[in-house]
Amino acid sequence: MNTKIEVNQLTKVFFKRNESVEAIKDVNMNITDGEFVCILGPSGCGKTTLLRILAGLETPSTGQFTIHQSSKEKPLQSMVFQEQGVIPWLTVEQNVSFGLKMRHVPKKIVKERTNYYLEKVGLRKFAKLYPKELSGGMKQRVSIARAFANDPEILLMDEPFAALDEQNKFILQEELLSIWEESKKTVLFITHSIDEAILLSDRIFLMSSQPGTIVQEKKIDLPRPRRMEEVRANEEMAKEFVEIWQHLQTEVQSSRLK
Ligand SMILES: Nc1ncnc2c1ncn2[C@@H]1O[C@H](COP(=O)(O)OP(=O)(O)OP(=O)(O)O)[C@@H](O)[C@H]1O
Ligand SMILES: [Mg+2]
Repeated sequence: MNTKIEVNQLTKVFFKRNESVEAIKDVNMNITDGEFVCILGPSGCGKTTLLRILAGLETPSTGQFTIHQSSKEKPLQSMVFQEQGVIPWLTVEQNVSFGLKMRHVPKKIVKERTNYYLEKVGLRKFAKLYPKELSGGMKQRVSIARAFANDPEILLMDEPFAALDEQNKFILQEELLSIWEESKKTVLFITHSIDEAILLSDRIFLMSSQPGTIVQEKKIDLPRPRRMEEVRANEEMAKEFVEIWQHLQTEVQSSRLK
């Protein structure tokens, strides 16, 4: 299996006036091409910082990372944010095709790919609407469709479903899995939900409290396609859930003492 993302000793220190904040420290990761990896960690441990570095939105203080490219034509990464990931003055369709148009992809391909992903996320009928006319779940569908339509080397997702109600979340998780299984993209996904991480991941990385580093790795050996009902009923996964829960509890407590 080919390595897609390599992260070596990545550290980020932020400077605010006279203070410095070490957000992440010595993060190491090796993610295989096509793998779905979730990162779980206490609030403030540097998950968003790590993703922003991989997205090129932030520079590391020390350390390096490499995203192995399969084609010079493709963008390196697309990012899906928790909220506000859509451009308010563009329609649903224009949002989804935005990245492709920016790269001057031929019009016919833009149209085909946009329609394909709009169909996949159930938004074909809403193509001409503006974000303000959409629900929160529909906006996240637009972000997901845009990210996949853009055909990046890797997908970075920062708690994309955190603001959704449970029902909408389950539906979007299954839609995401179905698109991912077909596209075989490498995904790095941040979540606070252990259930979500177990449902989605091939591997889960657990982070320590700030400065965040990866302290444990868990392989999720469940057949795919997966459904939440089956995952919940699996005894092995129930044990994993408790172990991860305990880890997070310990890290949250230790971050309060720092
Ligand atoms: N631009 C910035 N300037 C200064 N400090 C920052 C900046 N961005 C993040 N930080 C600090 O870095 C640390 C990690 O922040 P980050 O947002 O990466 O955490 P997180 O794990 O994503 O948290 P959450 O789970 O709450 O989203 C925090 O202490 C935060 O205050
Ligand atoms: Mg965050």
